[in-house]
Amino acid sequence: MTETQRRPLLAGNWKMYKTRAETMQFFRAFLPLIADVGEEREVAVFPPFVALETALRETADSRVAIGAQTMHYADSGAFTGEVSPVMLAEVGARAVILGHSERRQYFAENDGDLSQKVRAALDHGLLPVLCVGETASEREAGSTEAKLVRQLDEDLALVRAEELPTLVIAYEPIWAIGTGKTATPEMAQETIAFVRERLRERFRAAAELTRVLYGGSVKANNIDALMAQPDVDGVLVGGASLDPQEFARIVRYVA
Ligand code: PGA
Repeated sequence: MTETQRRPLLAGNWKMYKTRAETMQFFRAFLPLIADVGEEREVAVFPPFVALETALRETADSRVAIGAQTMHYADSGAFTGEVSPVMLAEVGARAVILGHSERRQYFAENDGDLSQKVRAALDHGLLPVLCVGETASEREAGSTEAKLVRQLDEDLALVRAEELPTLVIAYEPIWAIGTGKTATPEMAQETIAFVRERLRERFRAAAELTRVLYGGSVKANNIDALMAQPDVDGVLVGGASLDPQEFARIVRYVA
């Protein structure tokens, strides 16, 4: 299997930004700007829960997939404030971000729960976008690889090899998120190649078919160099996905 079979994914994580009105405005500006982008690129946007329906309605006639930013693993239950995979699938979400570093840091999302969340997303036909990555001090201490191995092993504990290509990994160095400090394209390539190597050890050939994204201060002005790296299969974009012009330029990266 060659890497050309990994369709590039350009994904926008809106975090806690955009009301429904702003969601509508965004897509009305954004969709015309990407109308001529071919099927060979996949585009996904992850708005806040309450804007999901608006986003789905606005993108109904487009190829843009809509997903959620987190979820619980249970189908239903006494979990105040949580949203279940059944609810996301019913509303029409096609994907879900899991284990974003902000969820891990501020909302105590842990690897044990994440393994169940990945499992639940797969069981409900949602594309999991599993985020992994090291802090600045972990990189300085030379423990980036150990951190990634631990996260990948624990979070993917309940995944079978044949399922691996139906999930996406996002490598997001925590020191690069929202800081304007992007990993250099070479650093992104090197670390993502390591992630794929680790996946290969456990899942064998399925690793070649599995997309690994880079995330952390991706902008219109660094997208081309990032996408030129052979193991970078796409990007997870925070701040720069809020602006229709800038996110459109990211989707329209020059190969
Ligand atoms: P950023 O966020 O692009 O604003 O750095 C990326 C992310 O958190 O996914």
